[in-house]
Amino acid sequence: MEYKTEHPIDVMYTEEEVEARIIELGRQISKDYEGKSVHMICVLKGGVFFMTELAKRITVPVSMDFMCVSSYGSATKSSGNVIMKKDLDESIEGKDVLVVGDIIDSGRTLSNLLELLKERKPASLKLCTLLDKPDRRVVQVDIDYNGFTIPDEFVVGYGLDYDQKYRNLPYIGIVRL
Ligand code: IMP
Ligand code: MG
Repeated sequence: MEYKTEHPIDVMYTEEEVEARIIELGRQISKDYEGKSVHMICVLKGGVFFMTELAKRITVPVSMDFMCVSSYGSATKSSGNVIMKKDLDESIEGKDVLVVGDIIDSGRTLSNLLELLKERKPASLKLCTLLDKPDRRVVQVDIDYNGFTIPDEFVVGYGLDYDQKYRNLPYIGIVRL
């Protein structure tokens, strides 16, 4: 399909490459959680495409919840302020929780979020991200599962936006602003 975009976008990972990597991650997660069930927490909005595709590739029982935190305005640099916009619907106490996000950039959003979730006493707490941009890290975050490590470029697609645009692109690409 040809997508109409306002900015030129250079493909970094094709839809096929992303799908193949998600299958691998699903396999690994299914193995690691054998005999358990996994409670997936999607970090909205960016994590939604990744989480639903990943969930379909996990063979142990899965439950899901969604939360929305924000650390960005419409710009491309992180402010470091995490605002809770939507909390979870259910308690995570005693559950094997897997947080699923789109990208770890400065690390601020996820490190704050993980701290907050830890206080709610899950049985275990792991982090899965579609993308890791380690060059821009400010706060250390332990990532358990990572789709791709990328250079310091602003990327869109597969859930990631620029100014709320391009989340629906089925590939990951660098947006040329
Ligand atoms: P952090 O708190 O700096 O790690 O930022 C995490 C959030 O910033 C992500 O969940 C994204 O919403 C956003 N973000 C960081 N880098 C990018 C990018 O390259 N493209 C789109 N969004 C990004
Ligand atoms: Mg965003």
